[in-house]
Amino acid sequence: MNVQGKPYRTIWPAPDGRAVEIIDQAELPHAFVVRRLETAGAVAHAIAAMRVRGAPLIGAAAGYGLWLAMRADPSDAALAAAAAALLATRPTAVNLRWALDSVTAVLRPLQPAAREGAARAAADRIADEDVAINRAIGRHGLGLLQGVWERRRAAGRPGPVQVLTHCNAGWLATVDWGTALAPVYAAHEAGIPIHVWVDETRPRNQGAALTAWELGQHGIAHTVIVDNAGGHLMQRGQVDLAIVGTDRTTARGDVANKIGTYLKALAAHDCAVPFYVAAPSPSIDWTLSDGLTQIPIEERSGDEIATITGMTAAGDTATVRLVPAGSRTHNPGFDVTPARLVTAIITERGITRPADLASLFSDCLQDDRAG
Ligand code: MRU
Repeated sequence: MNVQGKPYRTIWPAPDGRAVEIIDQAELPHAFVVRRLETAGAVAHAIAAMRVRGAPLIGAAAGYGLWLAMRADPSDAALAAAAAALLATRPTAVNLRWALDSVTAVLRPLQPAAREGAARAAADRIADEDVAINRAIGRHGLGLLQGVWERRRAAGRPGPVQVLTHCNAGWLATVDWGTALAPVYAAHEAGIPIHVWVDETRPRNQGAALTAWELGQHGIAHTVIVDNAGGHLMQRGQVDLAIVGTDRTTARGDVANKIGTYLKALAAHDCAVPFYVAAPSPSIDWTLSDGLTQIPIEERSGDEIATITGMTAAGDTATVRLVPAGSRTHNPGFDVTPARLVTAIITERGITRPADLASLFSDCLQDDRAG
């Protein structure tokens, strides 16, 4: 996607072939910084510090992390140590484990001398596949938005299609195109008028900082709202549909996504607003069924709640405290929306009700359970 008119991915191998480069998301929206990562440890740190984030991008970054590990030392021990360090960075997005398992399965049978090249090829493949998957999600989701647009026109309701999204499941959360926002970009390209309600997404404000930034870069109309406003807008008929991403979806269609997603799904259910989840297959965990009890939920530092960072009028970055010094905080990073609240799941293979997800991917289900 474009940054000031220039096409970028969120991660790419450095031109000298010795490092990987990322768009540093901790600096957005106030600065656009490309950061060079030369070691697997630096990649692990970038994932943990959320300089790269979003389930698909975490997976792609982990693939490149293993490549950098193999550049330094292609031994079995180094491979196992790098995979363990990368896996420990963030527990909820299953894409991380999926990418590490995929690359490790390619490398293990090889002689050490062949591993660096094979790791680079495997990481490139994960990145390219992510782009292709997201474009397919965009094509399928476009049909939904087109349908809403046609119904609006038939009903004589003027104005753009109104989409609500939570967190950032746009191109910044993937290698390119995004998942929840891929249909929005496809609709925009197809000339369908569209407006996005952007949940700010406390505590890290991925909506206010990242979704608003990337939509702005592409000239897509959007409005940032506080996380508590979505239900109110739905009650007033100001939301046609909600589309969110996912960090881990179970075989029966329970969806872990950024904290606050569940409350939006509840409000959507109450207001009969369709609630869609854009789920690339690497974010589906076929080994799990009950998301509420089985998906590990990341617990993050309370400082993310107690403080807030932004830009001052003078143009400096400043962190200020919101919460009284003595108050405790609790900061789960994700929640689980049960399948019964999900209208449908948009995958690269098409759109399915949660109950039919497993039959759409029956080949993957068999492979995963066998392995
Ligand atoms: O903590 P984050 O910013 O990595 O969380 C991101 C989300 O919750 C996204 O919705 C999810 O990863 C899907 S991204 C296509």
